[in-house]
Amino acid sequence: MLAIDRSESTFLYSQVIDLIDEQLRAGTLRAGDRLPSLRRMSDKLEISIPTVRQAYLELERRGRIEARPKSGYFIQPKRQNRLVKVGCKTCQPTEVSCRNLIDRVYAGIHKPGVLPLGIANPCMASPATKTLHRAMKRVMSRAEDRSLNYAPTEGEPGLKRQIAYRYLNHGGAVDPAEIIITNGGQEALAIALQAVARRDDVIALESPAYPGMLELIESLGMLALEIETCPVDGVSIDALSEALETHDVRACMLSSSVNNPLGSVSSDASRERLVQLLESRDIPLIEDDVYGELVYDGPRPKPAQFFSRKGLVLTCASFSKTAAPGYRVGWLLPGRYFEASSKLKRALSCSSGLLTQMTLTEYLASGDYDRHLKRLVPVLKQNAARMTAAVEQYFPANTGISAPKGGSVLWLELPRKVNSEKLFDAAIEHGISIMPGDVFTAGRRYRNFIRLSYGHPWSEAIEQGIEVLGGLVREMAD
Ligand SMILES: Cc1ncc(COP(=O)(O)O)c(C=O)c1O
Repeated sequence: MLAIDRSESTFLYSQVIDLIDEQLRAGTLRAGDRLPSLRRMSDKLEISIPTVRQAYLELERRGRIEARPKSGYFIQPKRQNRLVKVGCKTCQPTEVSCRNLIDRVYAGIHKPGVLPLGIANPCMASPATKTLHRAMKRVMSRAEDRSLNYAPTEGEPGLKRQIAYRYLNHGGAVDPAEIIITNGGQEALAIALQAVARRDDVIALESPAYPGMLELIESLGMLALEIETCPVDGVSIDALSEALETHDVRACMLSSSVNNPLGSVSSDASRERLVQLLESRDIPLIEDDVYGELVYDGPRPKPAQFFSRKGLVLTCASFSKTAAPGYRVGWLLPGRYFEASSKLKRALSCSSGLLTQMTLTEYLASGDYDRHLKRLVPVLKQNAARMTAAVEQYFPANTGISAPKGGSVLWLELPRKVNSEKLFDAAIEHGISIMPGDVFTAGRRYRNFIRLSYGHPWSEAIEQGIEVLGGLVREMAD
């Protein structure tokens, strides 16, 4: 029962703080929960709104709650980002041989019935099923035979116009004719890499890096050069600059907006510096921007593309993380590599599915896509806080936890004794999938790291899954 004691000498606002602290200790309130509005709290406690505001401001100053415009006040996780260092200072170009491990991991995470903490699937945290189905029905009702046909190699013009229009809203002018629609972001990355590099070339990438990039480098017989990456601000431009002095780097492939698995976001200024550095040496940058729309706070990061003067930036993006991974629709803005990319697209897959492209055109044009993103992003942010709190509760106290600024995954540094491949096997036995750290590196750097996904509606089952995982980690750490 919430009550304020007016006879006490303690300030009323500090009593409000004590009440909230008590609820937190009891577990009634948890990270990610919304506090009652100022008005509701003042009605409930029969005190003035300014008094409640003073309490909330003080809690915000202490980092215990966060005010979100038009949404209210939310409980924050207690400790954040104890990841001190990740990545490597001086790496050598390395052959990638991660396929065996990745094969095993994918077989595990796609097993029916497992708790899917392994797959990064942010849009499923608040699926757009109804509105997308409606858009597809509208398209089918008027498309007649056309939707069954081949799309143009470079994609449906209406969709390219919608994508270009979105870029305009983010502050960059893109000609729709410069866009190539692909089968998801992965095909965009594959085309971009083959347009700029050959077998035995050295490709610089973040450490840790998205496993799909490592698999591409492996299958094309290239070498990976891992660059130190800050868990908060993204790839270190100084480390990259040093690496360029020492190694003959043919291209860079970076998730320069939101890194997967770190959730780090580099600043626009840092991305501008990155493009200047690379273009001054005529090195192409393949930027993976599939998470660009899923940044929690502030404006969307400007794609590095917008800072390019020489056309050496190739931007890869996708609707997989924001709307529907099963549609397999992504795109590539290949800059000066348009012709080579268009030829590769035709050679690799002829064109992408037309019905899904037409559906997305309709979905974007109707405004439903923007409305969906407005709902999805706060859900992801809230899930991040909940999963952080659950890890804090059930994992050993010396577990390092990332503080993602976007996307849908947490990156955890477990106690040194824990081997994440063994943890993966044990977790699958318990019906839980996770991603072991070594799939994010060419050099076996992340043996005691794992990635957990929170791209699902939050549930008791997830909470229990984290508790089971925490127990397994404790056993292995002892
Ligand atoms: C960083 C990153 N880039 C690219 C992709 C591939 O995206 P798509 O599913 O559109 O092929 C993924 C998917 O997991 C990803 O996490």
